[in-house]
Amino acid sequence: MVAHTLASESFDWQFDTCGDPKLVAMLEAAKTFADAIMNDEDPNWLCLLGTSGAGKTLLAKRLLAFWRARGGYRVIQGRAGEFQSLGESRLILWPKFIERQLDGQWGEMQGIRETPFMVVDDLGREKGPPAFNAARADEVAESRLGKWTVFTSNKTLQQIADTDKRVASRMLRNGSATIDINVPDFNLRKRKPSA
Ligand SMILES: Nc1ncnc2c1ncn2[C@@H]1O[C@H](COP(=O)(O)OP(=O)(O)O)[C@@H](O)[C@H]1O
Ligand SMILES: [Mg+2]
Repeated sequence: MVAHTLASESFDWQFDTCGDPKLVAMLEAAKTFADAIMNDEDPNWLCLLGTSGAGKTLLAKRLLAFWRARGGYRVIQGRAGEFQSLGESRLILWPKFIERQLDGQWGEMQGIRETPFMVVDDLGREKGPPAFNAARADEVAESRLGKWTVFTSNKTLQQIADTDKRVASRMLRNGSATIDINVPDFNLRKRKPSA
């Protein structure tokens, strides 16, 4: 078991692994990501991919909560001395983002570029012209390089690569952690009598 920071260990992840090694690995990856934030390491990505109902969105939202409660603070020098400042964070639902982009709301890109912590939820679930979607995904991926970013997708890395090689290859570079998980839906897992 990896040693984690006190902050990530004491945070309430509200994530039930049901003892499944794949879910344990996903939670571990989230804690490692949280540790990297706490330790002020170079920002990178966490990509949670795989079957629907695995808990990817839940864990991404918990990481956002971790940022807001613990990891997102930096010491700033002000005129009255040092103070703690919380870096901005946001979650975008990718299918909704694509709808807004199709609607011509281009101004949103600047915020995406500048936000220190961001969750991009449900990549690959968007409707819309595939070439348009791929171009937007490329642009967002490019703008998030070297910034704390959590991507979730119900697609596998291979499926992402089939529609967008550039995004998939970035998911494997620059110290990004990519978890490709295949487990039964949470509600189905819950219904199984425990052994
Ligand atoms: N490990 C878990 N512990 C607690 N609740 C979970 C867990 N995994 C999934 N859930 C619940 O099951 C539902 C589906 O999870 P979600 O995070 O949306 O899955 P995914 O994004 O992988 O499709 C949500 O209501 C979520 O809160
Ligand atoms: Mg999801």
